[in-house]
Amino acid sequence: MKLNNITKVYGKGSLEVPVLHGIDLTVEDGEFIAIMGPSGSGKSTLMNIIGFLDYPTAGTYELNGEVISSAKESVLARLRNEHIGFVFQQFFMFPRDNALKNVASPLIYAGVSKRERTERAKQMLTKVGLEDRMKHLPSELSGGQKQRVAIARALVNNPSILLADEPTGALDSKTSAQIMKLFTQLNEEGKTVIIVTHEEEIAAYADRIITIKDGMITDDRKVVAS
Ligand SMILES: Nc1ncnc2c1ncn2[C@@H]1O[C@H](COP(=O)(O)OP(=O)(O)OP(=O)(O)O)[C@@H](O)[C@H]1O
Ligand SMILES: [Mg+2]
Repeated sequence: MKLNNITKVYGKGSLEVPVLHGIDLTVEDGEFIAIMGPSGSGKSTLMNIIGFLDYPTAGTYELNGEVISSAKESVLARLRNEHIGFVFQQFFMFPRDNALKNVASPLIYAGVSKRERTERAKQMLTKVGLEDRMKHLPSELSGGQKQRVAIARALVNNPSILLADEPTGALDSKTSAQIMKLFTQLNEEGKTVIIVTHEEEIAAYADRIITIKDGMITDDRKVVAS
């Protein structure tokens, strides 16, 4: 993916809040990137643009040769479905649906039959190590298990890019390490992984660390294996 001079301004007129100030970023397939930076620096805004949850005010975004500048919501939704898996700090699960149904839910919008939805959701839950928790409700799962369900759900459309905005922000350090090992495994299997984190230990799992301050990239470095 290639971001060219991406800017984002929220609001209009005297209420304008400029958030991103010309982001240039090229990400190769299969990279594992951590984005760091102070609170309010624009990390989530950038992730939302990369993940087609929001569009930039100006600049261009090129994915697999397709240029997206001010795409319509329907186009964003298609691109999101085809390419992106999103994981959030707060899991965002349907509380009344069990793990299997939560993981299968994105496939409803993709028009996949019920039988295949269930089959693929089972495969993904097995992949994240939750084959024995498929019928559990979110309230019956630990934080780490909930995040595994969320990762399984992000994987169910077979996206090439996995985006995670502070995926370990609500987890203890041992559980965080397990979740990061899972992201590492998925990256080794070929997924492009981009995570936002405030923690150096979490960022250290990535191959490349990008720092954002006041809506600009101020540092971009490769992680040297220790
Ligand atoms: N929908 C919105 N309307 C107006 N301003 C917004 C909106 N969303 C975010 N902002 C502002 O944009 C700036 C960047 O927000 P963003 O959520 O991208 O920061 P962040 O780097 O992810 O911070 P944190 O580390 O706290 O999650 C903040 O000043 C925020 O108040
Ligand atoms: Mg954020």
